[in-house]
Amino acid sequence: MSVICKVDNLSKSFRTDFYKKPIHILKNISFKIEEGQFVGFIGPNGAGKTTTIKCMMQFIFPESGTIQYFDHMDIQSAKKRIGFLPERPYFQEFLTGIEFLKFHWNLSGLPRNKFAENAETILAQVKLTHAKNLKLKNYSKGMLQRIGIAQALLASPDFLILDEPMSGLDPDGRILIKDILKKLKERNITVLMSSHLLEDLEELCEELIILHQGETLFNGPTIDFKKNFDSLEVAYAAFKRQIGYNYNA
Ligand SMILES: Nc1ncnc2c1ncn2[C@@H]1O[C@H](COP(=O)(O)OP(=O)(O)OP(=O)(O)O)[C@@H](O)[C@H]1O
Ligand SMILES: [Mg+2]
Repeated sequence: MSVICKVDNLSKSFRTDFYKKPIHILKNISFKIEEGQFVGFIGPNGAGKTTTIKCMMQFIFPESGTIQYFDHMDIQSAKKRIGFLPERPYFQEFLTGIEFLKFHWNLSGLPRNKFAENAETILAQVKLTHAKNLKLKNYSKGMLQRIGIAQALLASPDFLILDEPMSGLDPDGRILIKDILKKLKERNITVLMSSHLLEDLEELCEELIILHQGETLFNGPTIDFKKNFDSLEVAYAAFKRQIGYNYNA
């Protein structure tokens, strides 16, 4: 099976103040994602998931470590095959839904004549056809999340990186997005998805990466992580007890 993404020994520190020492946020993060896998990215708030994803997208750069895509493809070519939903997408509120998609389509340098057909298909999938000419400032939070997901899917990526895709969605919205993702699975698309909604991850992801305080504590099949527990939620709670995790610490 071909390797879609391989992250090795990623380290990143942030300096919050000129006079303060940098804080070590990512500590030798390593994991591997193979073709067709759906991978859940789990960890408490502040574990380093978004920072890892930002490094993967080259929005920020690690002090050390390497990131490889599609069996050593150069990063610029690889990026054209990656769809990305940020944790906090920026929505130009004066644009309509369709203009927002067009803006992203043009940014990715794709052939202009293919936009209309792709956009209509994606808008129908995320159930926003009726709102395509509405300005984003008039979208609800869930509608914004769905147009954000539409943007990530627009260029038919081979690898999708979704930072909390279910955030802000009502139960029907979550079912809609899960159904879209399940269809992608049938087409062998690879997905890395961070979320705190363990039930959704359990349903979708056969692999897990678990970060804790900037370290990779688990990278393997969901079924192995769950062991004899009834659900991922119970298994994760037991795992946190085992490592002595305390939310208030
Ligand atoms: N630019 C920055 N400068 C300083 N600290 C930062 C910066 N970006 C992130 N951090 C810190 O890095 C740590 C990890 O943040 P990150 O956003 O990666 O966590 P996360 O796992 O995505 O959490 P969440 O589940 O809340 O989204 C946090 O302590 C955060 O405050
Ligand atoms: Mg995050």
